[in-house]
Amino acid sequence: MLKIGVLASGRGSNFQAIIDEIEKGKLKASVEVLITDSDSAYAIERAKKHNLKYLFINPKEFKTKDDFFSRIADELRSSGVELVILAGFMRIVRKPLIDAFRNRIMNIHPALLPSFPGLHGQRQAVDYGVKIAGCTVHFVDEGMDTGPIIIQAAVPVHSGDTEDTLSERILALEHQIFPEAIRLFSEGRLEIKGRNIRIKDQPQISSSIVNPPLSMIADSCRH
Ligand code: GAR
Repeated sequence: MLKIGVLASGRGSNFQAIIDEIEKGKLKASVEVLITDSDSAYAIERAKKHNLKYLFINPKEFKTKDDFFSRIADELRSSGVELVILAGFMRIVRKPLIDAFRNRIMNIHPALLPSFPGLHGQRQAVDYGVKIAGCTVHFVDEGMDTGPIIIQAAVPVHSGDTEDTLSERILALEHQIFPEAIRLFSEGRLEIKGRNIRIKDQPQISSSIVNPPLSMIADSCRH
């Protein structure tokens, strides 16, 4: 059973998707602790509802950002966490946490990296006029959204899409690929070589969400 710690700043729908997969028995993991940097994060309500330990760590109480992240690392370590999940955690992770969990911190980003890193990936995609957008699960390194890519999934961008309509379409895929990436990690199937990740025992032609089936794209084109 993989012990995970979740960091979230807000709504926590990705956190919920992970809880749901665990409760369905499809993901052999346990959430040891949810840590938020905001006491109004709705993710806290989700933790309460599922009887999960949660903790608000106030960044304002720390002299430096490194101190804040050291405290988070201590908490995760003492909770026995093996994999750290950034589920809508809106801060750039600093060295003390990265060093404590090297290649064991996963982030979800609402764009096809390396395009559109940073805030509002979906708005950046709409403004740029790309025809395909999507989401990325990657390991976290010192850069902003630059770590090795684990899974990506794509959606078409329709003419007339707004940040909100595109975000909704991308979010549905986020909820699929994030638990899937955690599952691959828990099964020891992620082989990291530099910035390349090979998924062991991956079928050559997969109809899985790793390569979203054409039907998925065709369905959303009909809207
Ligand atoms: C998600 O769309 C996630 O990809 C994004 O924030 C949202 C959180 O939603 N993360 C980032 O932009 C990180 N750079 P959620 O709180 O409902 O999971």
